[in-house]
Amino acid sequence: MKLNMNTSFTQNTSSQSLLILVDSEQVQQAATTYSINDLAQLTQATQFKASLNETLPLIGQIENATNSTLVGIGKAADITANKLAKIAQTIIKATQKKFQSISIDISALPQEQHYLFALSLTQAAYGYDEFKSKKNEFVLNEIQLIASNSPLTAEQLRLIEAVELGQSYARDLGNRPGNICFPEYLAEQAQALAAEFPDLLKVTVLDEQQIADLGMGAFLAVSKGSDRPGRIITLEYQAERAEAPVVLVGKGITFDTGGISLKPGAGMDEMKYDMCGSASVLGTMRALCEAKLPIHVVGTIAAAENMPSGGATRPGDIVTTMSGQTVEILNTDAEGRLVLCDTLTYVKRFNPAIVIDIATLTGACVVALGSVLTGMFTPDDKLAQEIESAGKTAFDRVWRMPVIEDYQEQLDSPFADIANIGGPKAGSVTAACFLQRFTRDYRWAHLDIAGTAWNSGANKGATGRPVPLLMQLLVNRVNNG
Ligand code: BES
Ligand code: MN
Ligand code: ZN
Repeated sequence: MKLNMNTSFTQNTSSQSLLILVDSEQVQQAATTYSINDLAQLTQATQFKASLNETLPLIGQIENATNSTLVGIGKAADITANKLAKIAQTIIKATQKKFQSISIDISALPQEQHYLFALSLTQAAYGYDEFKSKKNEFVLNEIQLIASNSPLTAEQLRLIEAVELGQSYARDLGNRPGNICFPEYLAEQAQALAAEFPDLLKVTVLDEQQIADLGMGAFLAVSKGSDRPGRIITLEYQAERAEAPVVLVGKGITFDTGGISLKPGAGMDEMKYDMCGSASVLGTMRALCEAKLPIHVVGTIAAAENMPSGGATRPGDIVTTMSGQTVEILNTDAEGRLVLCDTLTYVKRFNPAIVIDIATLTGACVVALGSVLTGMFTPDDKLAQEIESAGKTAFDRVWRMPVIEDYQEQLDSPFADIANIGGPKAGSVTAACFLQRFTRDYRWAHLDIAGTAWNSGANKGATGRPVPLLMQLLVNRVNNG
């Protein structure tokens, strides 16, 4: 989506449709700005109150704008980020299939909301129809924002475009089914991305032999049940920079059947989304390249498929991880922590400033936080604050959950150093505690996106979260030196 900013709507504005946001406390403001003579009669006759998402089409009332619509936002002072997203969706839904270019007068919005509103518009315009014979007729590709006085800079508009490209890429990858998107496919995607930005990205792909040579017994315990071989994929952004990198680690289970601890059938198709953590790493890498942020970032993806077969891991099997710790695999459906633990050991070689892993790790996190907030786990208060604040700015929010030693004993095993499940209580916490045993050598945070990576039901589809959060965190790091 192309984004522009103008101070006023003029004859030269090459837009096909004009939408004007209207504060319910100042409905007549539109009449003044756009010289609409009979607005009072119109609102009287239609009972238009400019309440949230209420629309009023105008026909011929505004000069140079044959198609224009008033869009109510309720009381401007009561607008929240959540309402902004709803307004954006209303506007996109009404115009996406009809107009190539729209103008939106956002003067009624509080200035500090301009950035998020613009971002919400680009996010609302996403659609996925790759495997439909009849394609969606989305034609909208340009949005002009109008505000007499906006803090939004051209640089911020470019950043929003970059975030949207990265997020949409993550959504596309997430939505692709398991028969298309499997570990080698993710490796090809990373290679294609690196080929697109050869000056910015370096790619490395480890095959199963190399993974075995590194001693990653936990990773292989997951991938060995599948005919599709696993891969560990690393993209390094601006490798020549001297500073220690931010390292992102993504869970990339391209399909999670549960393995021998097979999942129930209902809704299992959604386990194609079990690679959304890795999709968010690829999406963030794309966004970084588009925005050309000056920062050193490494993204590593643990890509495997969790299948039951004659070669699959059995409950009770014991493996040795790259760290040397042994794991008793009591439940093969707790596979995310198995591929992640070895990958978290592997990334030590990058001497990370911080490591953030992103994973659709536990159903328990969905029970705890639903689909609003991502679960954040870190023993590092400063890092927690940094992630929380980036999430707020980007409206891609997290909620801090505990990782404290008291839960570790739930992972005791009679036969190995650690069990891969911690029983029915605090499932998302014990999953984080498992990962913590492999991350003691650096600053680390874990994001459980099981509830936020995709929507179920009528709006089924990947959300591309937490690409906006991760990009905001990187932007903040650049700005704060
Ligand atoms: N990928 C799932 C977690 C998941 C479940 C995400 C539902 C989103 C929706 C993960 O691999 C898993 O199966 N976790 C188990 C862990 C359990 C066996 C300790 C879970 O949450 O049930
Ligand atoms: Mn699982
Ligand atoms: Zn899983």
